[in-house]
Amino acid sequence: MTAILQVKDIHKSFEIGTVNENHVLKGLTLTIEKGEFVTIIGGNGAGKSTLLNSIAGSFLVDSGSIHLAGEDVTRQKTAERAKHIGRVFQDPKMGTATRLSIEENLAVAYKRGGKRGLSLGVKDKQRVEFRERLKQLDLNLESRLKMEVGLLSGGQRQALTLLMAALQSPKLLLLDEHTAALDPKTSKMVLELTNKIVKEEQLTAMMITHNMENAIEYGNRLIMLYNGQIAVDVRGKEKQQMTVPDLLELFHKNSGNRVSDDALILG
Ligand SMILES: Nc1ncnc2c1ncn2[C@@H]1O[C@H](COP(=O)(O)OP(=O)(O)O)[C@@H](O)[C@H]1O
Ligand SMILES: [Mg+2]
Repeated sequence: MTAILQVKDIHKSFEIGTVNENHVLKGLTLTIEKGEFVTIIGGNGAGKSTLLNSIAGSFLVDSGSIHLAGEDVTRQKTAERAKHIGRVFQDPKMGTATRLSIEENLAVAYKRGGKRGLSLGVKDKQRVEFRERLKQLDLNLESRLKMEVGLLSGGQRQALTLLMAALQSPKLLLLDEHTAALDPKTSKMVLELTNKIVKEEQLTAMMITHNMENAIEYGNRLIMLYNGQIAVDVRGKEKQQMTVPDLLELFHKNSGNRVSDDALILG
């Protein structure tokens, strides 16, 4: 097995030295193997986004280390790490350029991945490939290559963002509640698509969701964060057979949390 990500004993506080000082990640350690699809849940403020931001290098951690594909990236800037990381955020506007067409957006993603690409000019040969890729989405975007991305719906845009992230063949795909802004039906569509792309492209992915059922249904490993640490980490069969009540029980057992307020982890 090859570790794609090794996070060792990381700490992250915000607003250090003020009355608002907030110790968010408290010695978090986590190894993710190649091909794992990890779902991450935890209450509001548990540190889920902070964990993904720490990995992506949105800021540096206060202590501990982060290795990506064997390389120590702890002190690396976001741009350096971005070569290996694909990200999709909650806001559908974040991952694509509104004013550019679908094919221009794809061309940008192509270039970013270091693939033989040709700026914004799209050659016929590339166009053929883009059409093929877009067909995967089953949203009929392949017939609308020249359409401005700003005209797409939120769901279509997230689907395109996902496709673009996968085009770069990232070593690690980070999804931060990327379906939370969508209506339930569209959210399901994008989740299914995520599953398909992660499997077909054999990606390694971390997906934050606030929906426990989705966290159980998708992926092959589930992590629950609580109070800046990992409270639950299940995989394989154990995860597959899990129900929401099982998950809550495990959380209570592991965290020693007797408060029956499940809002704590439901977010
Ligand atoms: N850049 C930041 N500056 C200050 N505080 C932050 C920052 N990012 C996150 N926080 C705080 O850290 C805590 C954890 O946030 P976050 O990781 O976003 O939680 P969640 O698990 O809901 O994604 C919250 O209290 C949040 O306000
Ligand atoms: Mg968050």
